[in-house]
Amino acid sequence: MDISIFSLGQLDPASSQPMYLQIAENIAAGIRDRKIPPNAKLPPERQLAIHYGVSRTTAINTYRKLEEWDLVLTKIGSGTYVTGGSGEAAMLPMPWQQLLVPHLKGPLAGILRELLSADLSGKTISMATGTPDPTIYPATTFNDLLNCRNADLTNADLGHISTEGYLPLRTQLAALQNQKGGNATADNIAVVSGSQQGLYLLAKIFINPGDYVVVEAPTYLCAIPTFQAAGARILSLPAPGPLQLDLLEDYIIRHRPKLLYIMPTYQNPSGRTINLSERQALLALAAKHRLIIIEDDPYSDFHYDQQPPPSLKTLDSYGGVIYLSTFSKTLFPGLRIGWVVASEAVITRLALEKQYVDLHSANLSQWQLNEFLRRGSFAGHLDAIRGEYQKRRDATATALRRYCGDSLTFFVPAGGFYFWCKLTHPSATSRQLLQEATRLGVSFVPGEAFYSDREESRDFRLCFATNPSSVLQEGIKRLAKALSSLTKIWDDGARTVRRTSKPII
Ligand SMILES: Cc1ncc(COP(=O)(O)O)c(C=O)c1O
Repeated sequence: MDISIFSLGQLDPASSQPMYLQIAENIAAGIRDRKIPPNAKLPPERQLAIHYGVSRTTAINTYRKLEEWDLVLTKIGSGTYVTGGSGEAAMLPMPWQQLLVPHLKGPLAGILRELLSADLSGKTISMATGTPDPTIYPATTFNDLLNCRNADLTNADLGHISTEGYLPLRTQLAALQNQKGGNATADNIAVVSGSQQGLYLLAKIFINPGDYVVVEAPTYLCAIPTFQAAGARILSLPAPGPLQLDLLEDYIIRHRPKLLYIMPTYQNPSGRTINLSERQALLALAAKHRLIIIEDDPYSDFHYDQQPPPSLKTLDSYGGVIYLSTFSKTLFPGLRIGWVVASEAVITRLALEKQYVDLHSANLSQWQLNEFLRRGSFAGHLDAIRGEYQKRRDATATALRRYCGDSLTFFVPAGGFYFWCKLTHPSATSRQLLQEATRLGVSFVPGEAFYSDREESRDFRLCFATNPSSVLQEGIKRLAKALSSLTKIWDDGARTVRRTSKPII
């Protein structure tokens, strides 16, 4: 075959698309346009490489790609041939990347990629994800429940149920809610497939593009993209520290935000709890301006010192608080059951919205959970895990003090899953620390993931729930090693910054 028909003109060595892919697309276009006829023998790889001025490996990869697209076939000992050239085989692959709606890219995407690649080895101690310890999931009880429920299940039970959720479970969730104060009925409850779905649906039903939403800074890392995807503009209310109600009121007057999203108890990531008088003051302000509050409360059952103050929902006298929680932390995340407590009008609208993505949450999970609650197994399970997580929290605090000393500051959370640490070196970044730490086999989430507007931060979140105390201790030793190997670099960095921070004029 005359190789000159492979045009060189469209190749761009400066493009981010690798050369082998550009050449493959170039040849594929020739095959599709029938300039390279079906069954034609293509030049050997060496000749192709010379023609395009690329390495032999690039030529090999080009033919591999064309084979992947079913456009060519390599016959060992004979050469590479264009396939039969049926319409189907000669088609170019679908350009999915160009067809997909662009995905919002925040700092989270890059960080998650780094964390995932770090954990591939399986040797990394993960203090990153906020998951409970799989070894203390109530798996045996749930297996037994599934077996016993199987015997009772009828065909009707396997059909559709109401979008708001399995009624006996909603009734029990209302009772659970009322034990802590309140007067919810099943009509005030919607079961959702994890509280993340609840948050997504609430964003959908309340936010119009351009609306303002107030979130804490830092806040739950998936909340920010959820609100932004609904078109919200984010206003940040600093946490931890005293609740800045003056700032909140300023936001309310200036921007009329649609809602405030807040985790008053053992906040993710900072571990902070808002005290009773601040809760009351917040509610008074919200009531004055009829501000919607979404109270996200996955962690209040994990109290290690004393009971936390009552939830905002319990204290709410103006009816503006929407409560959201989940069994992902207290039981296990694979159950995918969360719940929303709100006025009936909100629950009805939320259920309508849910139908577009999920006709209802899975029956089997709802039945199992209902049975688990009905048998009274939940309170005992909570007591047991609370004791264990308290030990882990204490072990983490001791190890941080012992191994990391002055390199970071933190406070011991009264509950929840997380330590929120701050690097003391002025030139430090938690992203740099993550890179070194993952090399040494421990991971965490750097602070910028929890803010809507930060590229860099000296904060980071350590989850102490997933691993037993001995593993946490080893993880923190590795963290300390990463810190000490970076301190010199940060010292040099600080000197460089001082040298270059002269006025430009
Ligand atoms: C504050 C907060 N909200 C929501 C979620 C989502 O939980 P689920 O697994 O129920 O979707 C999490 C999970 O980490 C969380 O920490």
